[in-house]
Amino acid sequence: MRRVSPQELLVKPFSIFDRQWALLVAGSERPNPMTVSWGGLGTLWNRPVATVYVRPTRFTFTLLGEEPAFTLNFLPEAHRAGLDLCGGISGRDADKWEATGLHRLPGETVGAARVAEAELALECRVLATVDLDPARFLDPAIGDLYPRKDYHRVFIGEILGAWAEDRFTAKVA
Ligand SMILES: Cc1cc2nc3c(=O)[nH]c(=O)nc-3n(C[C@H](O)[C@H](O)[C@H](O)COP(=O)(O)O)c2cc1C
Repeated sequence: MRRVSPQELLVKPFSIFDRQWALLVAGSERPNPMTVSWGGLGTLWNRPVATVYVRPTRFTFTLLGEEPAFTLNFLPEAHRAGLDLCGGISGRDADKWEATGLHRLPGETVGAARVAEAELALECRVLATVDLDPARFLDPAIGDLYPRKDYHRVFIGEILGAWAEDRFTAKVA
């Protein structure tokens, strides 16, 4: 991987989250990877941002509350089992690095670690959070996704650093 500008990135915005999934790593003292498949990449406040959605029940939610930074790591298909594990157990109960055999690299622009096995990794500092308000859901089917009423908190992260394999990039004019 090499460090790239977010402007250079060539990604499929839907399948990269919905099919590939990602590991969101938060916490610098005790970094913890959590699988996410809901999120987005875009532009806000004239900055490149990654947006993730975290339920308050997650250990990751606590870690993000302690330190407003995260990394978002997209891994090759060979690591599917690791992604399954990081989406099935909590960092409160286990060390997911040991459990998966994944390795971490120190973040260069934020305290949160990156995943060494990633093919695309983004370092983000949280610019703002928004708590989803069910009173504002216009499609009742959305409420059905929250039987425990644990509505997501939205974390909007400015992308301060991006690392990618060459196939994720294109020269920009
Ligand atoms: C494919 C997949 C996608 C997931 N996406 C999210 C997500 O976007 N937001 C979220 O809060 N939880 C999501 N989860 C659930 C968390 O990954 C899971 O609850 C995890 O164990 C929480 O870990 P933690 O307690 O260490 O933070 C997803 C799980 C899987 C398997």
